[in-house]
Amino acid sequence: MELRGRDVILRTVAIDDAPALAAILAEPEVARWWGVFDLDRVVADLVRGGPGETPLVIEHDGEVIGYIQAVEEEEPDFRHAGIDLFLRTDAQGRGLGPDAIRTLAIELIDRRGHHRLTIDPAAGNTRAIAAYAKLGFRPVGVMRAYQRMTDGRWADALLMDLLADELVR
Ligand SMILES: CC(C)(COP(=O)(O)OP(=O)(O)OC[C@H]1O[C@@H](n2cnc3c(N)ncnc32)[C@H](O)[C@@H]1OP(=O)(O)O)[C@@H](O)C(=O)NCCC(=O)NCCS
Repeated sequence: MELRGRDVILRTVAIDDAPALAAILAEPEVARWWGVFDLDRVVADLVRGGPGETPLVIEHDGEVIGYIQAVEEEEPDFRHAGIDLFLRTDAQGRGLGPDAIRTLAIELIDRRGHHRLTIDPAAGNTRAIAAYAKLGFRPVGVMRAYQRMTDGRWADALLMDLLADELVR
C-alpha cells in the first residue's frame, strides 16, 4: 500500500525498516513520548502489529523519516479509527507530521468509510496537540494516569477526536 501526501509518502512497513525505526525511537525527542523500544519490540509492535492495525512508514525525499499507524475498531456500533505517529527529530517542526496524518485520515474517511478518528497525545505534548488541532481534531477530555513514561511515572493524556467533515484538507 502507498498513499501520497503533499510532501510525504506513506507505504506499508517492511521488516527491513525495523533498524531505521529503532534508531528513530532511540532519539531522546521521540523516546520521550513513545518510550523504550529495542529491535524486537519494533518488529513485534510496529512491523507485525495487531488486529485492525495498518502500519506505515513515512518517507520524505526517498528517506524513512517516521512511522504512522491506524488502529481500526470494526465493531459496527463503535466504529472508528485511531492514529499514532512519530517523526525523526530533524524532520519535526516542518509540517510533515500534519501532512502524514491528513493523508492517512483521507484514506480512513474517504476510502474506508470512517466517520470518526481519534488521537491521544500526552497532555504535556504541546507540539503534538497543536499539530492535531490544526487538522481539526478537538479535545474531548483528559485521560488521567493513562500512559507510563520512561521515568516510570503514569502521565495524563488528552483524548482528541475528529468527525469526518471536520478534517482540514
Ligand atoms: C508530534 C509530531 C507528530 C508533530 O509533527 P510536526 O511535523 O513536528 O508538527 P508541525 O511542524 O506541524 O508543528 C505543529 C505545530 O506545533 C507548533 N509547535 C512546534 N513546536 C512546539 C512546541 N514545543 N510547543 C507548542 N507548539 C509547538 C508549531 O508552531 C506548529 O504550528 P504552526 O505550523 O502553525 O507553526 C512530531 O513533532 C513528532 O513526531 N514528535 C515526536 C514524537 C511524538 O511526540 N509523537 C506524537 C505522540 S502522540
